[in-house]
Amino acid sequence: MAVKKLIDEIFWVGAEDWDRRLFDSLIPLPDGTSYNAYIVRGRDLTVLIDAVDPTKKDILASHLNDFPKIDLVIANHLEQDHSGLIPYVLERYPQARLLATPAAKDLIITHLHVAEDRIRTVADGERLDLGGRTIRFIHFPWVHWPETMLSYLEEDKILFSCDLFGSHLASSDLLVKDEERIYEPAKRYFAEIMMPFRKIIQKNWPVLEGLKVELIAPSHGPIYDRPAFILDAYKKWIADQPENSVLMVWVSMHGSTARMVDHLTWELAGRGIKVMPFNLAVADLGHLAMSLVEAATIIVASPTILTGLHPLVAEAVFLVNALRPKALFAGFIGSYGWKSRAFDQLKAMLDSVRFELLNPVQIKGDPRPEDLALLTRLAADIYQKHQAAGLI
Ligand code: FEO
Repeated sequence: MAVKKLIDEIFWVGAEDWDRRLFDSLIPLPDGTSYNAYIVRGRDLTVLIDAVDPTKKDILASHLNDFPKIDLVIANHLEQDHSGLIPYVLERYPQARLLATPAAKDLIITHLHVAEDRIRTVADGERLDLGGRTIRFIHFPWVHWPETMLSYLEEDKILFSCDLFGSHLASSDLLVKDEERIYEPAKRYFAEIMMPFRKIIQKNWPVLEGLKVELIAPSHGPIYDRPAFILDAYKKWIADQPENSVLMVWVSMHGSTARMVDHLTWELAGRGIKVMPFNLAVADLGHLAMSLVEAATIIVASPTILTGLHPLVAEAVFLVNALRPKALFAGFIGSYGWKSRAFDQLKAMLDSVRFELLNPVQIKGDPRPEDLALLTRLAADIYQKHQAAGLI
């Protein structure tokens, strides 16, 4: 893998990770990923923006052979897939100093064991003159750690955004060639990484609107040479208004809960509501996360096991609670054998979200016509709720 020239004196020195299939031992990566790092050379100073995952040390080391001098290393974000090799870079370039936000300093010392005198913190809005090129540092916390910032190259109008606007997609293309192809990995990335911080991104969005940007160079996935594509997508994803859709996460052991799911799906679809059912026995959690981005209602459908939720359902509910989607309503349906506390368990688990809870439909045994009628009523309730919320 070779160094790639982005524009004059600006280079990609990152690494593709074609075969990686899991991030944080949790997130599926069906398309692999990349760790993008960049060299920006001015007349006087050369900077490295971010590094790559420690597993790709050999690749970064080989790229850096083309750059005998690095004066400064910019750490936009301290997660190890971008910062893990910073100690190596600082050792290789003993004169270089590390630039990061004040909030990053403690993380650098505790996670990377970098000596304090190698670190220089930068203020929000501070400019760094490289000689004919100026980098402006923009503090942009919680995308997706507290210390994150963006680096904006003023003359060339390039925004180095680290994780923000990233996508887990390994590609030999430096720039986005096919916007339709990148949309799903970008949305998946937003759903899994950025969605819990949607409100903070919303609050800081005017900062981005105030920048003239010609290239968005994130730390994962290809670079956007038509920034409006990803900016418009994010505007939609971070907006408060969900779409007229219902996401249903479900598991069934002997078919009773499955029959309830089928009936509710049929009744909702018949009312013109988009339904996204996920059988958790086979579902891809990344697809589930993506569907959470715009769903207005979440239905949890679970049989009862040892008086509580099925463990696969509990895992999905944990995820929903952690990702804090914009959904307005949540409901619970399911069948149980003799006793259930599953709904109470569900309510207790949803402590980070403010969904309006709909009346649960929990039945004993296999559903009878009168039980299915309750689900028909639930579908009608959901329709009315969506209508009142202006989604229909
Ligand atoms: Fe790509 Fe938050 O690290």
